Amino acid sequence: MSDAVKQFEEAFASWLGADRAFAFWKGRVALYAILKAMGVGEGDEVILPGYTCVMDVNPVKYLGARTVFVDIEPATYNLDVRLLEEKITPRTKVIIAQHTYGYPCEMDGILEISDRRGIPVIEDCCLALGSTYKGKRCGTFGVASYWSFQWNKPFTTGIGGMVTTHDADLGERIASLCEAECVRPPTGVALMLSLQRLVYRTTIFPKTTAFATAAFRWLTRKGAVVGSSATCEFVPQMPPDFFMRMSRGQARAGLSQLRKVDRNIAHRREMKHVYDRLLRQAGWEVPDIPEYMDPVLVRYPVRAADKARAVQEAAKHLVELGTWFECPLHPIETPMEQYGYREGMCPVAEQACREVVNLPTHRRANESTARRSVDFVAQIGPPAATGPAVPSP
Ligand SMILES: Cc1ncc(COP(=O)(O)O)c(C=O)c1O
Repeated sequence: MSDAVKQFEEAFASWLGADRAFAFWKGRVALYAILKAMGVGEGDEVILPGYTCVMDVNPVKYLGARTVFVDIEPATYNLDVRLLEEKITPRTKVIIAQHTYGYPCEMDGILEISDRRGIPVIEDCCLALGSTYKGKRCGTFGVASYWSFQWNKPFTTGIGGMVTTHDADLGERIASLCEAECVRPPTGVALMLSLQRLVYRTTIFPKTTAFATAAFRWLTRKGAVVGSSATCEFVPQMPPDFFMRMSRGQARAGLSQLRKVDRNIAHRREMKHVYDRLLRQAGWEVPDIPEYMDPVLVRYPVRAADKARAVQEAAKHLVELGTWFECPLHPIETPMEQYGYREGMCPVAEQACREVVNLPTHRRANESTARRSVDFVAQIGPPAATGPAVPSP
């Protein structure tokens, strides 16, 4: 393993306050490493929120386990603790607590059930770098956590992922697994990704994102660039060479991003306040999040009356509008039945999929970006009736 990768792992573990970290090619690979090291396999059940990305579900399926989906609560989009226990069976092996958009999960409730029923919690921190719950960082509650550094995430190494853990045994098992089974990224692919990071740094701004994303997806389909997800990742069968470590170039980019992480987090916190204020001024009802949650939002979610129209018109208004999550297992093309999801399983999540769009909070967005975005969303309007705005304690 390269020195840069080792340095990034150590720096990330130290930033979080974890004992160990392991860097991978993508966040989904990090989840796979944790599940495999925990011995998840055929016949086991893994609980996830029914409002996630299919790439998050794939590692469970690759290992032959069954996915069990819990509906979300409507203010933070995180799994509804009141519905969690009824999903637990003698086969439940793991609960995945995804901190959606950066809103922390209701950790006290989840950990109480986890302790009482003896089921470990893995935290999905891919969208929640820097968020805290009762003063403690997301990523420090569960037996292990995983992180993503893909383009849309709190900071980017192009693509990339990390496992963090406090559990010495689990750490040893992940280390052995990496040693025995992990492959290294091919040089050509790693170099191409470096080039893409350069293009990203110099050309992507809120006004250009929609056009750049369309071009990037087209180039990905043509196989001309390193895409975030290959076509073969939209089905629940593991592609060859999936279990891949991080490249040196990704790690160097990660180290550079980590040096700026405090400014990144402060900026995202500030952008949340700006959006809260502007949306309130526009007559919007802003979710009332408990004071003990301090979210650092990767994107600012907002419910719109006509999501399809918003998505269609955003680029024309130079608004960087995100669509996650388009369906309970984003994106909309996911063959959901192959993943064990049936329509109606998670009605609150399904409603969120119909209504929620998201706005940029990253460092290239500022008050004027927020104003343009809110003016645009305000002109679409809020849905007629949204669910209760206060999450359950
Ligand atoms: C909540 C969540 N977890 C995990 C992942 C997977 O991360 P990566 O793309 O780095 O594999 C994603 C999607 O990209 C996600 O949205």
